[in-house]
Amino acid sequence: MKKDGFIIKKHSCLLLVLLFVFAFTGCSNDAADSTSEKSEKAGQTESSTIGTDTQGETEAGQTEQNDSGKTAVVYFSATGTTEEVANQIAEETGADIFEIVPEEPYTSEDLNYSDDNCRANKEMNDEAARPAISSDLSVVSEYDVIYLGYPVWWGTAPRIIQTFLENSDISQAAVYTFCTSGGSGIEQSVEDLQGLYPDVNIVSGRRFGQGADADVKEWIEEHISSKQ
Ligand SMILES: Cc1cc2nc3c(=O)[nH]c(=O)nc-3n(C[C@H](O)[C@H](O)[C@H](O)COP(=O)(O)O)c2cc1C
Repeated sequence: MKKDGFIIKKHSCLLLVLLFVFAFTGCSNDAADSTSEKSEKAGQTESSTIGTDTQGETEAGQTEQNDSGKTAVVYFSATGTTEEVANQIAEETGADIFEIVPEEPYTSEDLNYSDDNCRANKEMNDEAARPAISSDLSVVSEYDVIYLGYPVWWGTAPRIIQTFLENSDISQAAVYTFCTSGGSGIEQSVEDLQGLYPDVNIVSGRRFGQGADADVKEWIEEHISSKQ
């Protein structure tokens, strides 16, 4: 009897152990399931946050760029070189693009800087010159990131850029300058603009040569990764 009792006890112990093991395994599976459920949900939240760009774009590159807000490219170009770079930046970022169009277009005579009396030189020599703009750029006040582009004239930004900055409410935006030139860097123009317009957040600048495709891509990628 003692032996039988021992066997019964032994069996019930075994049963208890088995029950315990099942119960424990079941629990840990539940825990694992709920953890993976949570991380799935977290993943969904994360991706929906990334997907919530202000312009509703779906392409990955554009979404990343627009995470920090609406992006615009605003440029002035007298002979098309800066325009080409501006188009490339807009393409890379998915930004909206706006041209600073002079009310009076610049002729090649106006731009003949070897002539002291050409219009461009006269404007650059006159601190008060503010060539009028014919395009309506009021909408740029809605943008959080602005790529502002221009050709270098006599080491700095053309006066029409001052017209733009003085007539636009862009104190909310991070303004990344870019330029094209025959060789001069952008630094002087950025320093000048920062000194003249301390209320505008002019954060950095980059010069491009002609046909700057690869450089533009690299610059934009740097920007996007520095904002992540
Ligand atoms: C009035 C004037 C002044 C210029 N001054 C400079 C200069 O100081 N340094 C330079 O490297 N290029 C200078 N350039 C050359 C332009 O910066 C260059 O050709 C630019 O890429 C033109 O851009 P756009 O085609 O968008 O107008 C000057 C051009 C003009 C018309």
